[in-house]
Amino acid sequence: MSTLNYIEQNKDRFLSELFDILRIPSISADSAYAGDVRKCAEAVAEHLRKAGADNVVLEETAGYPIVYGEKIVDANLPTVLIYGHYDVQPSVPDELWETPPFEPTVRDGKIYARGACDDKGQVFMHVKAFETMMQTQTLACNIKFMIEGEEEVGSNNLGTYCRTHKDKLAADVILISDTALIANDCPSIDVGLRGLSYVEVEVTGPRIDLHSGVYGGAVANPINVLCTMIASLHDENRHITIPGFYDKVAEVSAADRAELGRIPFSEEEYRKHLDIDAIYGEKGFTTIERTGIRPTLDVNGIWGGYIGEGAKTVLPSKAYAKISMRLVPNQISDEITELFQKHFESIAPAGVRVKVTPHHGGEPVLTPTDSIPYKAAAAAMKETFGVEPIATRGGGSIPIVALFEKELKTKTVLMGFGLDSDAIHSPNEHYGIFNYFKGIETIPQFFKHFAAMNP
Ligand code: BES
Ligand code: MN
Ligand code: MN
Repeated sequence: MSTLNYIEQNKDRFLSELFDILRIPSISADSAYAGDVRKCAEAVAEHLRKAGADNVVLEETAGYPIVYGEKIVDANLPTVLIYGHYDVQPSVPDELWETPPFEPTVRDGKIYARGACDDKGQVFMHVKAFETMMQTQTLACNIKFMIEGEEEVGSNNLGTYCRTHKDKLAADVILISDTALIANDCPSIDVGLRGLSYVEVEVTGPRIDLHSGVYGGAVANPINVLCTMIASLHDENRHITIPGFYDKVAEVSAADRAELGRIPFSEEEYRKHLDIDAIYGEKGFTTIERTGIRPTLDVNGIWGGYIGEGAKTVLPSKAYAKISMRLVPNQISDEITELFQKHFESIAPAGVRVKVTPHHGGEPVLTPTDSIPYKAAAAAMKETFGVEPIATRGGGSIPIVALFEKELKTKTVLMGFGLDSDAIHSPNEHYGIFNYFKGIETIPQFFKHFAAMNP
């Protein structure tokens, strides 16, 4: 039977099995869900076993387990290592979901659920593509799976796991589906991802919250000060003002920028989708460049003082913010964090104390287009979409990709099937049924081409 026929005949089951996975609230950030995260790991392992994988185990770490499984067909064949994550972002605020985040629902040809796209739906495409290749005797490469449960909280234990399991994880390529297409009729492959530096800041003023009438005007207000400090981190051209921030930023050649300029983009659709009346960003760059090749600094959350019902006249003792910086080649996460810390402390006015606490980070990556893995992925997509994919850059981060290169000396190909409009990390996350099955169809083609291109 052909792979297409097999997929067609098992369509309903491929969907219902994904729904079972989506029902498990595997939120890695919230310890209240620890049991569910583990349950999800077990469910993924069971699906791998049923699909025909050997040596399936939950690899215990200091955090959540990594699901490992493999099928070694022939030591002479190339080996593909599939990486993905079964953990998801928190679903809050739940009241903004049209249907509950862990009750997958189909509307308009899309599966609505937390993790539908990021990354359970895309991981499960690989499980079902593997089953399809096993059942149709078309598995053309050896395959290894490494599905982790801590991606959304920084993959803190995966580095150690890779370092201590180099032989087990040995592969010719790492294949990841955790990114997006430009559009369903415009397939693309991300050849770059941004890095990340994430910090939390705390500004402390007076010992306790004060009466804002009795003391207001005479004592530094930490929230006012924090806002002024944050505002000063960008200039009028929306450049970041931290000294040294751009020192290592790789200039993108005019030719490469012209390539990016060929990507179809409708500013009007973009604005409409986001319900904004204007785009906004660094002077001198297009929207695609702003999210693809330029670094950024964004406040992710800010709090302090009185935020309950009604008014309370108070001059707060403390103010806080969480700040993320997206990095591009060749910026280094730890260096940027340090530059931020030094600068932020230096701009604090007398009257407050500032504390900067670094969180997780990650390095940016660039993957070559003139490589066998890229060519195999492009050939696979050409076959199933009917058009050649475009090489583009993803604005998000998958810090583990740089780590794979460092620890395993293995290159990654990012063959993702989501859409930027899938609302990952947002309420009403969804994944197109078209995209799910397009992935299941395309993955076996990747294996076929990758085997054929390897001598
Ligand atoms: N799958 C995303 C990353 C992504 C999304 C890359 C879209 C390219 C396009 C991943 O799960 C993610 O959310 N990563 C985090 C980083 C992590 C350290 C928490 C991110 O980008 O914020
Ligand atoms: Mn993801
Ligand atoms: Mn994510």
